[in-house]
Amino acid sequence: MTNDQVYAAGLLNRALDPSTQPPEIQDFLRAELDLLREFVAAGARLLDVGCGTGRHLRMLADRISLGVGIDYEHSYIAEAHGQVVDPRVHFVTADATLVPLRSTFDCATCLTNTWGTMTDKVGVLDEMRRLAPLAQTRLLSVYSLDSIPPRREWYRRLGHSIAEETDDFLMTNGGFRSEQFSEARLRDLIGDCTIRKLAKIGYVATF
Ligand SMILES: C[S@@+](CC[C@H](N)C(=O)[O-])C[C@H]1O[C@@H](n2cnc3c(N)ncnc32)[C@H](O)[C@@H]1O
Repeated sequence: MTNDQVYAAGLLNRALDPSTQPPEIQDFLRAELDLLREFVAAGARLLDVGCGTGRHLRMLADRISLGVGIDYEHSYIAEAHGQVVDPRVHFVTADATLVPLRSTFDCATCLTNTWGTMTDKVGVLDEMRRLAPLAQTRLLSVYSLDSIPPRREWYRRLGHSIAEETDDFLMTNGGFRSEQFSEARLRDLIGDCTIRKLAKIGYVATF
């Protein structure tokens, strides 16, 4: 299986069930929500890349003027549509390297190590830069190397034991591949950016 097939089989919904999440993962997810409330200004136009079932846009719906979520897994987009009825929020089934939009946004996010599961990372950054053209308005949250032990346990609980582990990625026996990053590798991939720790197991990069 490849990541798109694993997602199509519904991994995300099980992963977002807090009962599957080790405490370090729960802390990271909470820290992300706090960060987003700071990062997204009232009235902003926000693009969320790899939005899944739309939980971040749902949380921010009443403070933004426009929200668009992009995800290539159509069943997640359909679920997001069903859960958010706010007319300011839209969901589109599309690949993050080829977003079918021409208008621009005040900010763009790619959260919860979504970027670490994407194949063409530089292509995704290019689309984020095109769609949110101002520097420091694009935000990625990713896992650091410290995330490996809790992720091993989380994936095991989801029925995905680890088949291969390197400094750069974990690959499960269910075919799910998820990368983690050192600060140096993040800088290499992103170029000019600001990097901060996020909880004990992650980084947030703005560029
Ligand atoms: C780790 S999940 C996170 C989902 C959501 N951001 C959240 O935190 O709830 C990663 C998401 O990225 C989507 N995804 C992965 N690669 C993608 C791509 N190339 N284009 C669009 N979506 C992609 C998957 O379908 C999945 O919903």
